Amino acid sequence: MTEHKTPSFSSKVGLILATAGSAVGLGNIWKFPYEAGQSGGGAFLIVYLICCLLFGLPMLMTELYIGKQSQKSAYGAFRKLSNNNRWQWMSWVCIITALLITGFYFEVTGWCFHYLFAAIGNSFKGMTAVTMQTHFAQLMSNKWALFGYSMIAVVATAGVLWFDVNKGIERLSKILMPLLLVMMILMVIRVLMLDGSHKGLEFFFKVDFSKITPNTVLAALGQCFLSLSVGLGALITYGAYMQKSQNITATSLQVVILDTAVAVLAGMIIFPAVFAFGVNPAEGPQLVFVVLPAIFEKMSFAWLSGVFFFLLLCIAAITSTISLMEVIVAFINEATAKTRHPLNRHKSVIIVSAMIMLTIGACVFREEIFNWSDDFTANILIPLNALAMTIFVGWFLPKKDLLEEFGKEKGFKHYFALCYLQIVRYFIPLTIVIIFLNGLGLWDAIQKLF
Ligand code: PFF
Repeated sequence: MTEHKTPSFSSKVGLILATAGSAVGLGNIWKFPYEAGQSGGGAFLIVYLICCLLFGLPMLMTELYIGKQSQKSAYGAFRKLSNNNRWQWMSWVCIITALLITGFYFEVTGWCFHYLFAAIGNSFKGMTAVTMQTHFAQLMSNKWALFGYSMIAVVATAGVLWFDVNKGIERLSKILMPLLLVMMILMVIRVLMLDGSHKGLEFFFKVDFSKITPNTVLAALGQCFLSLSVGLGALITYGAYMQKSQNITATSLQVVILDTAVAVLAGMIIFPAVFAFGVNPAEGPQLVFVVLPAIFEKMSFAWLSGVFFFLLLCIAAITSTISLMEVIVAFINEATAKTRHPLNRHKSVIIVSAMIMLTIGACVFREEIFNWSDDFTANILIPLNALAMTIFVGWFLPKKDLLEEFGKEKGFKHYFALCYLQIVRYFIPLTIVIIFLNGLGLWDAIQKLF
């Protein structure tokens, strides 16, 4: 038997960048623009920003709190804090959610690698949006190639996780996150120099309130949870790596700001480019992969722009796959620590890589599994986990400890802490319940009763 020791991030910057690295990913650069494009641009943006403030920020604080307070991964955290096994099921739901996400998330990361290599090899030369569509369709039909590209993502992620937390994840995030921001700002400047780009900015920033529907709210909420990596224990795991002196509120605020900034920057790259070349912003999931390379082709420095953009996408994806895989690695590592066959970090990384190969295989070879796991996790599992976590923290953990962490002396911090507590106790659980009832058609029936 070996004693399991929880690793930790060695610096505040490392912690913030690693957490931001988990948050910033394909969700921001690939999914956010196409969701916004399909849901009315500015209308989606404003609802999204409100969701981040009222749901995302408190959820981030909640997960980091569970991790920091327990110093355990998603496996041991619930048991340790509740002092019994009654909440242990939550650990399993978290790990199942994480595993289900790995399949489609690693697959799309594989697409990014394909596009990066194709951009480096100048394969998009002379292509238009129509020929790019064919290129995308060909890639989608070449299942083994898709599987192969996803394996590059698995090997790269496993390579980082092979090392200890502060050597692998922390060191890499410190380099990649600032690089990503600089690259995105350069891209925005480049795209804004295109004729007609202002129409894209108008589409993205002008709010038409009549376009806000219940579906816009649902899509924005799901997008906000996915984008901030909440609802599957990833941030419980990172919270466990926090040191006592590291502050949850400040970290969460900075991560929400960074994550939102990247999503907004992605919109500021994509919409001006889309409008400058007269493309439909509601293209859907293909928006980045079909439209952008075609747009780059029409720009000067076509090769450089393409390579730059897809490199950026790969970087963002990999810092997220790292945290996705780390949840499961830390889980196995901790779950087996006190058994007769403890699995150390290296063995856990190998086992989890093999598990992820299976989920990727399922998604690549069965498209319906890809779509199902994306929808089921975003619309059902993640909101349900968020509901359970807020009930756990808001109603079952001692209020005294919460105030100790978030601010017990009178003053701004204390009022913020009290406000957080109300949001976690009432606002988030009730809203999620209403969303579910609405989804089941029961909300309309209840309203009719009154
Ligand atoms: N937040 C990531 C993104 O926006 O792409 C997705 C994600 C990564 C979700 C890691 C969950 C996670 F554990």
